[in-house]
Amino acid sequence: MSEAAVVLITGGAKRIGAALCRRFHEGGYRVLLHYRHSKDAADALASELNQEAPDSCCCIQADLNTLSGIRQLAESAKRKWGRVDLLINNASSFYPTPIADCNDAQWDDLMGSNAKAPLFLSQALAPTLAKHKGAIINFADIHAEKPMANHSIYNMAKAANVMLTKSLALELAPSIRVNSIAPGAILWPEAGEENASILAKIPLQRCGGEAPICQAAWYLAEQAPYTTGQILAIDGGRSLHM
Ligand SMILES: NC(=O)c1ccc[n+]([C@@H]2O[C@H](COP(=O)([O-])OP(=O)(O)OC[C@H]3O[C@@H](n4cnc5c(N)ncnc54)[C@H](OP(=O)(O)O)[C@@H]3O)[C@@H](O)[C@H]2O)c1
Repeated sequence: MSEAAVVLITGGAKRIGAALCRRFHEGGYRVLLHYRHSKDAADALASELNQEAPDSCCCIQADLNTLSGIRQLAESAKRKWGRVDLLINNASSFYPTPIADCNDAQWDDLMGSNAKAPLFLSQALAPTLAKHKGAIINFADIHAEKPMANHSIYNMAKAANVMLTKSLALELAPSIRVNSIAPGAILWPEAGEENASILAKIPLQRCGGEAPICQAAWYLAEQAPYTTGQILAIDGGRSLHM
C-alpha cells in the first residue's frame, strides 16, 4: 500500500485554514498544520485529527515574515514525513493601510505573509513537490484585480500573489501545477462584523463560508490534472460588477 500524501497548510489553526486541514485529512492526506500565534487552536485541531488517524497531523510554528522562519518551516515540513505533495499558502495578514500613514512595518508584514512567504516556501519545497508530481495552491483575493479602498498594501501584496501563481506555473511545469483561489466575502474578519453594504453587492447574496473554498481547493489539488496557472474566483459573483 502506498503512503498517504502530505499537505502543508499555512495558517491552518483557524477559519479557512482549519477547514482546509479537515477537508484534506478527510480526503486521506497527512496534514502539516502551520500556525504562528494560534498554538491552542492548532494543538486542539491536531489532537482531533490524530484521534481519527494516529500520527496524521503535526503542528509547526513559524513566523512567515522572516526568511529564516520560512526556511525552518520548510525544513521541518520535509523532515516530518520525508515528503510534501501539496503546499497551500493560506496564511495572510489583512488590515487597512490608508496612504496618509501607512508604514514600512505594515509593508513587511502584509508583503511577508501574502507574497514573500508563498514564493520562498515554494522555492524550498519545489524539489519534494516535483518528486511527487505535486501542486501548489495560493490564496489571492478578488481585490488583487479591483482594489479595496484604503488597503493599498494588501491589494498590492495579493496582486503579487496572483503573478506568483502565473510565474511559477510556467517555471515549475511540467512537474508541479500551481493555481490560486481568489475568495470574495467568505468569512468576516475575526474582529469585524457582517457588512450589509458588501452583502448587497454579491449576486448570490450571502457570504460564502468555508465549504466552497474547500471544494475549490480539493478540485485544484485532486481533480484538475490539466489545470495550471489559473486564478479561480470563489465569490458568489461579486467580481462581475466591482
Ligand atoms: N475571509 C475571507 O472572506 C477572505 C476574503 C478574501 C481572501 N481571503 C484569503 O483567504 C485566506 C484565508 O482567509 P482567513 O480569513 O481564514 O485568514 P485569517 O484568519 O485572516 O488568517 C489566517 C492565518 O494567517 C496566519 N498569519 C498571518 N500572518 C502571518 C505571518 N506573518 N506568519 C505566519 N502566519 C501568519 C495567522 O496564523 P495564527 O493565528 O496562527 O497567528 C492566521 O490565523 C487568506 O489568504 C485570505 O487573504 C479570505
